[in-house]
Amino acid sequence: MPTTTSSPGGRLRPLIVFGTRPEAIKLCPVILECQRRRDAIAPIVCSTGQHREMLEQVLGYFGIVPDIDLGLMKPGQTLAALTAACLESVDRVIMEEKPDCVVVQGDTTTVMAAAMAAFYHRRPVVHVEAGLRTGDLAAPWPEEFNRRVAGIVTDLHCAPTQRAAEALRRETIPESSIRVTGNTVIDALLHTVKQQRSDDSRLREKYPGASGDSVVLITGHRRENFGGGLAGICDAIAELAASHPGTEFIYPVHLNPNVKGPVHDRLQGLSNVHLVPPADYPEFVWLMDRANVVLTDSGGVQEEAPSLGCAVLVTREKTERPEAVEAGLAELVGTDRELIVRRVSEEIAKRRGGPSATIAENPYGDGKSSGRIVDWMLESWSGQLT
Ligand code: UD1
Ligand code: UDP
Repeated sequence: MPTTTSSPGGRLRPLIVFGTRPEAIKLCPVILECQRRRDAIAPIVCSTGQHREMLEQVLGYFGIVPDIDLGLMKPGQTLAALTAACLESVDRVIMEEKPDCVVVQGDTTTVMAAAMAAFYHRRPVVHVEAGLRTGDLAAPWPEEFNRRVAGIVTDLHCAPTQRAAEALRRETIPESSIRVTGNTVIDALLHTVKQQRSDDSRLREKYPGASGDSVVLITGHRRENFGGGLAGICDAIAELAASHPGTEFIYPVHLNPNVKGPVHDRLQGLSNVHLVPPADYPEFVWLMDRANVVLTDSGGVQEEAPSLGCAVLVTREKTERPEAVEAGLAELVGTDRELIVRRVSEEIAKRRGGPSATIAENPYGDGKSSGRIVDWMLESWSGQLT
């Protein structure tokens, strides 16, 4: 493992890099934990700005203002252009800031490029949510590639589950570099859900459809579902909306033009389908808490929704998060119209009457993951600081 440089004041100075909504949701609890331990650790918070509006929503809620904002989002840019811009920009930040280590989370372009930039500077990498694998570079695409690249140069692999740790061991990562920390998404979720339940009058007004006793919540943005897959999902939703007039279908639509355009083209104007902009994180948590069925291809939603007692139907052929499926808390339905219609209809019939009031035990974490991650960073490097 590369050693760290000395930091002024003897505090560990990690550069914490994120760029998209899910990375921010999962790293804000880590940043807040660093703030609670400011005597020992002084993070430099860097947003690549891979996302804009969807990132601002999260940072605003957690009250985090990045020290550095690289503002990289450009509509319609290619993955190669984004990767190049990210690599060059994070390279400059590392040169200027000379952090002790670089912390990344998940599997986006930001994660892959920031981990590479750290490697080129011989800076240690901490990978939060390490070891997720489908074994298929095409699904999810390009995320399976991004996380494997990050994994090659990582020093501290913070695995969310035992299964993720096993995947890293199979790749011959040394045992001393792997720790099962849980997923910080559950830290964020538990922090939020109680607050949202305590006072939801504003949200009931904003989302009147969500107050009914049959609610289906939908998200979708995977690149491998663009085109035919997304069309199959939308056609299924249109058919379900017609056959279940007493059910409200709430769909916060991702801002990627490859999603937004086709979804609006196919679903606009149906009276019980509500196409709404991306929800603020606490609002989305509240919507999950209200929903009977969640239909999603999101990674983060697969982890969160099982806590909230709704049926989770995953519009993917493969998942790197099989724990919920194995526990009977989620199910893969792919993008086939008929299968989606059948499974959503069955779950609507079963679950009418509102979601469960308790927060179920979750296979992905216990809400204490950020503390474990910060502990491990301090254990690993604070002794070397002056
Ligand atoms: C990215 C990640 C994906 C992650 C997802 C979370 C990559 C390759 N993909 O996908 O792994 O699951 O974020 O949501 O890293 N846009 C806006 N405003 C925003 C965000 C996006 O207008 O706040 C539009 C822009 O036109 C942008 C496009 O969406 O160019 C695509 O954004 P990008 O980050 O490249 O990919 P996502 O599909 O969001
Ligand atoms: N989310 C949100 N608003 C929405 C939809 C999702 O705040 O309208 C949150 C959700 O709770 C989860 C995260 O965004 O924590 C998932 O992000 P996304 O689905 O964009 O990416 P993925 O997890 O698939 O990488």
